[in-house]
Amino acid sequence: MNIQNQLQATVEALVQQGKGILAMDESSPTIAKRFKPIGVESTEENRRSYRSMLLATPGLGEFVSGVILFEETLGQKADDGTPLPALAAQQGIVPGIKVDKGKLALANAPGDEITEGLDGLALRLESYKQQGARFAKWRDVYHISATTPSRLAIEANAEVLARYASICQTLGIVPIVEPEVLIDGDHSIDRCAEVTEAVLHEVFHALHCYHVILEHMLLKPNMVIPGKTHAQKASPEEVAEQTIRVLRRTVPAAVPSINFLSGGLTPEEATANLNAMNCLAPQPWDLSFSYGRALQQPALQAWKGNAGNAASTQAALYLRAKLNGAARHGSYSV
Ligand code: 13P
Repeated sequence: MNIQNQLQATVEALVQQGKGILAMDESSPTIAKRFKPIGVESTEENRRSYRSMLLATPGLGEFVSGVILFEETLGQKADDGTPLPALAAQQGIVPGIKVDKGKLALANAPGDEITEGLDGLALRLESYKQQGARFAKWRDVYHISATTPSRLAIEANAEVLARYASICQTLGIVPIVEPEVLIDGDHSIDRCAEVTEAVLHEVFHALHCYHVILEHMLLKPNMVIPGKTHAQKASPEEVAEQTIRVLRRTVPAAVPSINFLSGGLTPEEATANLNAMNCLAPQPWDLSFSYGRALQQPALQAWKGNAGNAASTQAALYLRAKLNGAARHGSYSV
């Protein structure tokens, strides 16, 4: 298959009615943070056994079309020797890989960060592809404060996202473009809307400059929400209205699907917000999920590091996936 056909086939496998993406690509420090509250040490064996249990969840492929893995997971095997990317594929789930190398302080922009990982990216992608990865993910973060994100941070981060996406497409890997405006802070929902609009505007400008084919990528943005410590919470209807307004102003209709991150929302909030957005249909793009915490949190609570809890862990993941599948149609009810 030529590169364009590979990209098209992967997009079609990822963007399906009633389905979304499971993010389980936590870096080593992040997975240690997730395991700590349930008293599990982050060893390679614990990470392997937890993640292979999730991927083996019976019926997961009914609601999950793709899974984002961490580099280590790509090379790991289930107890019966099946490579974990192959285990996902057996469920009808497309394996993908997080390829950024995390973030650093951005020089001359106090409080802002820049994501790294472009050096050697093409070579790494070739080997990930041989291991079964068909799509990739790169995350940029933006902090909201009185002075951030700066113009410099917005432009520099857009540029690296676009360079990453263009390199992926050249190699037949579908890029998920993830600009995340963080939930931390006491800012209002209006301020989140203003920053998200500026960020997405710049990201799509850079994607255009780097000749990224919009039909062959997915966008993974934050929802427009008030800061975590803001005095007032927003209802799902308000989040939906504000988020859709920003997306309609900035995301071209050629993009096939927008798969939100959950970014610290509770599983219930993430599902209710997605549902409210899909109640505002029709939109030019599919509106779906690419949740990490909002899909895994109940599963982690059920597991607690005990292999004997596999069935309840998988049931917890399956339930969240099913509810988010319903939210894809706007038919979720609490
Ligand atoms: P959350 O849904 O937990 O924000 O994770 C999604 C993700 O992949 C962040 O990069």
